Parts: sequence; C-alpha cells; structure tokens
Amino acid sequence: MDNVKEAAAAKGNASGGGAPAAAGAAAAGGLRGVVAASSSIGDVNGEQGILIYQGYDIHELAEHSTFEEVVFLLWNGRLPKREELEGLKREIGECYDVPKEIVDLIRSFPKEVDPMDTLRTAVSALGMYTESPHDISREAAVKTATRLTAQFPVLVAALERIRKGQEPVAPKPELSIATNFLYMLRGEMPQEREARIFDVCLILHADHELNASTFTARVVAGTLADVYASVTAALAALSGPLHGGANTNVMKMLLEIGDVAKAEGFVANALAEKKKIMGIGHAVYKTEDPRATHLRRFSQEVGERGGDTRWYEISRKIEEYMLREKGMYPNVDFFSASTYYMMGIPLDLFTPIFAVSRISGWTGHILEQYANNKLIRPRAEYVGPRGLKYTPIEQR
Ligand code: COA
Repeated sequence: MDNVKEAAAAKGNASGGGAPAAAGAAAAGGLRGVVAASSSIGDVNGEQGILIYQGYDIHELAEHSTFEEVVFLLWNGRLPKREELEGLKREIGECYDVPKEIVDLIRSFPKEVDPMDTLRTAVSALGMYTESPHDISREAAVKTATRLTAQFPVLVAALERIRKGQEPVAPKPELSIATNFLYMLRGEMPQEREARIFDVCLILHADHELNASTFTARVVAGTLADVYASVTAALAALSGPLHGGANTNVMKMLLEIGDVAKAEGFVANALAEKKKIMGIGHAVYKTEDPRATHLRRFSQEVGERGGDTRWYEISRKIEEYMLREKGMYPNVDFFSASTYYMMGIPLDLFTPIFAVSRISGWTGHILEQYANNKLIRPRAEYVGPRGLKYTPIEQR
C-alpha cells in the first residue's frame, strides 16, 4: 500500500512543476519502495522472502525447471510446450558462434583488465556485427535476446581462456547453456551433477524485478535505444560492488579470513570499523533471500564433493553472527561465492557469470518496456542555491 502511495505521489510530482517533498525523500533513500514500472516478469516479496518469475515460485523452478525453460518463461509469460522448448534450444545452439571480429577484439585487450569491462565492451561491439541492430520490433528484439543469451557464456569462457593465453573452446550446439559454459571454460565436459547445480544457479540469478541493472536496462530501452545499447548499460550497472560485484568481494573476504576460528573476530572487527559485510543485507528482503536457501545447500554439497567444506563453514559462521548481532540475512551473493570458487571458477568471473544468467531477465524487461513504452523521466528535488549573480573569474 505504501508503495502505491509513494508511486502515486512520485507520479503526481513528475507532472507538476515544483520539487515535491515526497520525491526528495525517495531520491535521498535511493528510490526504496517507489514503484517505477508495471511488470509481469518477476516479483519480490521482501517481507516474506518470496521470489516469483511470471507467477512461478523460485523454489518450484529451482526444483523442476531448466535455465532454457526459464528463459522462455521470462520472455513469453508462460512455460513452453515441448516443441517450443526444443525450438528455443535449437535457436540458442545456432546462435552460439561469436563473430571472429569480436574474438579478435577481445584478444586485443590488455590481459589484466577486469572481465566485466571486456564483456561490456564486447557486447557493445556485437551490435555492429549483425543486420539491423536497431530493429526493436518484437520479432527482431527476441532474436537479439536469443543471440545475446547464447553468446554471453561463449564470450565469458573465451575471454577467460584468451587472457590465460589459451585458445577459446568452440561451443557445442547440442549442449545446454550451463553445460556448454563449464565445458568451454575448462576444455572438458563437467560432471552431470555439477552442470545441474550450475544450471540452477543460472535459474536463481535470472531475474530480480527492478534491481539496479534491470532498471538501467529499462531506462535505456525506454528511450527506444536498441537491445545492445540497453544490455550494455545494464552490464555497466551490474559491475558495481554494491550490485553484481558483491559475490567476488564475498570470496575475497572468505579467503582473507581463511579459517573458521577467525570468522567471528573478523566480522566483529569489520563492523566495529563500520565496514559492510559483503553478501549480507538486501534493499528489499527483510528475511532470508529465497535464492540463498538453494545456494547454501550447493556451497555445502560442492564442498563435500571436493572434500573441503572450509569456505562453506566460514560462510555459515558469518551468517550466524550477522543474524544474531545485526538481524541481517545473506543475499544471493553470499553462498554463490564459495559455490563458484569450489567449482574452480576465478573470482573475477563471478560477476560476468551473474550476467550470463541475468541477460534473460534484462531482455525480458526490455521486451516488456518496448511493448508498452513510455520514456522514463523522473524529477529531481533541487537542493542547490537559487538567484546567484555571475561573478567575473578574476573576482572569485
Ligand atoms: N554489513 C553491515 N551492515 C550493513 C550491511 C552489511 N552488509 N548492509 C546494511 N548494513 C547496515 C548499514 O550500515 C545501515 O546501518 P545504519 O542504519 O546504522 O547506518 C543499515 O544496515 C541499513 O543499510 P543500507 O545500506 O541503508 O541498507 P539498504 O537496504 O539500503 O542496502 C545493500 C542494501 C544491499 C546495499 C546493503 O545491505 C549492502 O551494501 N550489502 C553488502 C553488499 C551486497 O551484498 N550487495 C549485493 C546485494 S544483492
């Protein structure tokens, strides 16, 4: 109800001339609680810890679905029939090949750059190697969404191998996105269970309503810029440490702690120094993030399979401490960090992997924005001075 009131207030403000108090409060608070779009793609109930995609609870999808099926769901608003799913998988398989010019572009980058910068630049350039990149009709935009969803994992695996001085591994069109990614990254087929865990990780990260990067994508799409432009902007938003970058920082923290016995002391010191504990807290969830429920299990399982549960155990100690002392819960990044690390994925690929999944949600929102577009143009509350007189430069 409060959301609706704030939304209504913000709406009224936008059409008015002045700088209203409610808008100022929203801006100061990072737009918390402000409803800025209507969407049927995903919904977050922060009080009860419920996440749904197009009406389906995330737990249902994590249990029974596949990433490709979720991609169809996000773009079409319903689960696919068998032949529709097969059709989408075939189209994704046909789109796996990245233009040679893009692979050469990645080869030309310095080896030490952040993979998110590489991915963002490569995706921006991808639009130059396709016919009619600016066509935003539903049919063309779905094709672009399919192409980007197929090529994100290929780009991430390729950039990793290129920076290590290895040749990229060619994707296999018959493999799922999750299996293909692990295969291309390592040059050998992953175990079935590991590929399934990764597949569920992709499902869990696919959409999260109007998070910062999705909102960015919608703002850009709202200007009727093309899908490549909207997704490039979303990638930029995702790269920040308060958004997609948090999972990498979680693992850095776990490595710094290194020992279960040191976990509580580390967190107590960090809090005393007013530092934030990465992977903890959420702008919307005030209880357990439902995605963390699955990732906690995966962190434990992957640890047990590899014979080393240290990272899981340190994470548990931090989680317990933060809940006990601050009443705060882990978010999606907290246990995905140790899960990916124990799968042998380099730390700075965690955020690109987030993007490999979230491209499905971004493009779902972009399609939705195009279908019922209105330029997104809020107001700012002006808090600066007025009526100043110009002073010549030599008199300042
Ligand atoms: N560790 C310690 N304290 C935290 C915290 C964390 N991870 N997250 C929030 N807090 C504290 C803040 O310091 C603040 O305390 P104060 O009122 O005494 O100043 C209070 O909780 C509210 O914090 P705020 O940043 O306003 O909460 P928010 O709901 O707006 O922010 C996040 C949500 C996600 C930005 C925030 O929890 C955070 O920075 N978490 C770590 C980064 C992260 O994991 N990001 C991924 C999100 S999926």
